[in-house]
Amino acid sequence: MTVMLSLRDVRKAYRSASRDVNALDGVDLDLPSDHALALVGESGCGKTTLGELTVGLQRPDAGQIMHASGVDLANCRPRSLRSLRPRLQMVFQNPFASFAPHLRLHQSLAPVARRQGIAQPMIISALVDSLEQVGLSAAHLDRYPAQLSGGQLQRASLARALLCDPQYIVADEISSALDVAAQDELTRLLGRLRAQRHFTLLFITHDLGLARQVADDVCVMDAGRIVERGRADQVLDDPQTRAAKRLVDAIPRFRY
Ligand SMILES: Nc1ncnc2c1ncn2[C@@H]1O[C@H](COP(=O)(O)OP(=O)(O)OP(=O)(O)O)[C@@H](O)[C@H]1O
Ligand SMILES: [Mg+2]
Repeated sequence: MTVMLSLRDVRKAYRSASRDVNALDGVDLDLPSDHALALVGESGCGKTTLGELTVGLQRPDAGQIMHASGVDLANCRPRSLRSLRPRLQMVFQNPFASFAPHLRLHQSLAPVARRQGIAQPMIISALVDSLEQVGLSAAHLDRYPAQLSGGQLQRASLARALLCDPQYIVADEISSALDVAAQDELTRLLGRLRAQRHFTLLFITHDLGLARQVADDVCVMDAGRIVERGRADQVLDDPQTRAAKRLVDAIPRFRY
């Protein structure tokens, strides 16, 4: 098993005049290649912060985030980070905040394809190809974000990530703004895409039932630390920590 990203004693505080928040309080985590890991925990425990650090959107105050290429995202030069960044993608919770409202979808996606070195005459076919991988089509290219549903926009966000040939995708509560049917569709799509494209997935959610549908392993976070890691079934059936027990108790029974 190759490790794609290895975090050691990662710490991050948000400082303000009134108080400091220790969002990450010494996180150790190995993310294997071609693996789906769910990161679960109650609101405010540090999931989004951890996700952002692992794609280089933020830097930690201390610790190491070692990529398989030998680059430490926590301490490397900006130039090393820039060349690695496209392969490390993050999709966010709010689909309507993920695209500029005044741009048609092709206007948002084309610059991404261009940055990937795709030649101008090939751009549209590359965009259509990436949309088709997520169940959308050329017909959606001319739409504004407001003309797409939340579920369609989340799929467009995934299409944008796929354009960068990602090695790793952080999906941060990507289905929490959707109804159950769209949620189900999106999680199935993630499974299909992983089987085809073999990226590592960090699936962030506060829903342990959803985590089991998507991920092989589950990490439970509590107050800035990872307190439990195991196979999804194992954590669901026999949670070891108080934090994991609380999450299991929060799953609606019909999901079992
Ligand atoms: N930009 C920021 N400035 C100050 N505090 C922040 C900032 N971002 C996050 N925090 C605080 O850091 C802690 C961890 O936040 P984070 O967003 O990582 O949690 P989370 O597990 O993703 O929560 P949720 O499930 O609600 O999305 C929280 O206490 C939060 O209030
Ligand atoms: Mg969050």
